[in-house]
Amino acid sequence: MKWNAIVATLGLFAPTSALLRFGCARLTVQRLDPLVNPGSNPSPHLHQIIGGDSFNVSMDPKTHDLVGLSSCTSCQFTEDFSNYWTAVLYFRAKNGTYKRVPQRAQAGMEGTQGGMVVYYMTDALFDTAQKSSVTAFKPGFRMLVGDVNYRDREQARDFRQLTFICMQDESTREPETLNFPTKPCPAGIMANHRFPTCWDGVNLDSPNHRDHVAYPESGTFESGGPCPSTHPVRLPQLLLETVWDTKAFNNKADWPEDGSQPFVWSSGDKTGYSTHADYLFGWKDDSLQKAMDAHTYVSAPMLKTQSIAEQNKCTVPDMVGEDFDSWLPKLPGNLEE
Ligand SMILES: *[C@@H]1O[C@H](CO)[C@@H](O)[C@H](O)[C@H]1NC(C)=O
Ligand SMILES: *[C@@H]1O[C@H](CO)[C@@H](O)[C@H](O)[C@H]1NC(C)=O
Repeated sequence: MKWNAIVATLGLFAPTSALLRFGCARLTVQRLDPLVNPGSNPSPHLHQIIGGDSFNVSMDPKTHDLVGLSSCTSCQFTEDFSNYWTAVLYFRAKNGTYKRVPQRAQAGMEGTQGGMVVYYMTDALFDTAQKSSVTAFKPGFRMLVGDVNYRDREQARDFRQLTFICMQDESTREPETLNFPTKPCPAGIMANHRFPTCWDGVNLDSPNHRDHVAYPESGTFESGGPCPSTHPVRLPQLLLETVWDTKAFNNKADWPEDGSQPFVWSSGDKTGYSTHADYLFGWKDDSLQKAMDAHTYVSAPMLKTQSIAEQNKCTVPDMVGEDFDSWLPKLPGNLEE
């Protein structure tokens, strides 16, 4: 099946499946990072966060039970109290001020306020059989993909499949680039974050939040490549799609005269190579493992769902108290490129 046909199908049926694909509204936008900068209020740069409302300045893995402490989730599946976050996209105007770029819902999920689309899969996205076995993440599991300090292509190659798509219309899924698109994208910029899929089987986290996971030793997750002996446990492929709605910023006359593109991550990166995402696992009981074991593609009858209106209602209080939405002279945290 062609990717466009898959998108159309997925969009039409707003599916739930064990290739899980589901929308999550924004839980909050704040300068907090309980994985990399626990206890820091504010953290160095601004994030957009989805998932369970136990999200907080600190989420000590020893004491913070995401499932037990959450009263709601901004995700479609109500057993998912995980938190997922990425940096935030800004537009830099010719006069040097910055404006936050809004996020938009994908087809079939209209009405969702901001947020992302989340996938968990046992095989390549195109594989409707989803036959392979995976071990779902364990309580307390966390990871980070990408590196906030990266600024060039060679560095970015450390991470596979952290990409951008310049959307011409809703169905555009190629080409994928490692850098920000260089031309205006009529239907927005999609940021894709695919996490590593092999685990050491022991550590729920590691000092840099990356070393306990790895990519397949050869090939790719999509090609069924084997996990390395150091990280033998095959995980689901977790993929986040964020659509940055650039509509208001696509007028070439507002773009820099030197021909460069005007978008910048909230971390102060205008290349795009520092793209990164964070994950704190928080599915109830063994609900994720059960869903992965079901090997279905267009339904997940074992999971409970809620409406988009209910997803939108799940938010957390503003704990930082700063303006990130006006035209700003500097990025939140006084960051500059
Ligand atoms: C965040 O943590 C603080 C300190 O433990 C707590 O008082 C507060 O209720 C928590 N906030 C939320 C939204 O859970
Ligand atoms: C800078 O440019 C933006 C976009 O044109 C505009 O909305 C904003 O008011 C300007 N700010 C200043 C301080 O001139």
